Amino acid sequence: MPKLPIALMASLIATLASAGAFAAGEPGAQITRPAGYKPMSGDASLGEKLFNDTKLSTNGMSCASCHANHGAFQASFAKPYPHEVAMAKDQLGRKTVHLDEMIQGCMVMPMAAKPLPWNSKELAGLNAYLLSAQKTFKPSR
Ligand code: HEC
Repeated sequence: MPKLPIALMASLIATLASAGAFAAGEPGAQITRPAGYKPMSGDASLGEKLFNDTKLSTNGMSCASCHANHGAFQASFAKPYPHEVAMAKDQLGRKTVHLDEMIQGCMVMPMAAKPLPWNSKELAGLNAYLLSAQKTFKPSR
């Protein structure tokens, strides 16, 4: 195989990257709903158990380590989804996120784990539990 000049290789890589060829492993892509995704209705009590379960992470954290009693939520949590979340915007370049996408965002970022399967009862349960937590959330700032 002929040796490619460095400049050509660099431009090839840039083209592939902008075409999304490397997207699969990136957090931004990992948290994006698959095409045609329809959220399933979930069991909030299963979600509450998972919320407190450190086995979901690889670093000893549970969702509750940060979010117990509405901790770590900013005023955005009170708004209907999809909405802007500062962390998703700053770290993943996402203008707005759905609730399930933000759950996946916290799975891959603070929880240092893989995203949950999109069609799993675990994701649906966490989604249902967080929708109920959202109803009692009063932003303090
Ligand atoms: C190490 C702390 C930490 C852990 C653990 C964590 N999160 Fe988060 N979470 C955050 C931070 C920080 C934000 C960003 C808040 C912001 O930018 O407004 C956030 C944002 C969110 C939001 C979006 C809130 C909004 O404004 O709409 C949801 C939903 C959420 N987390 C759910 C979860 C779930 C579910 C888990 C467990 C799977 C989890 N988080 C684990 C720190 C954490």
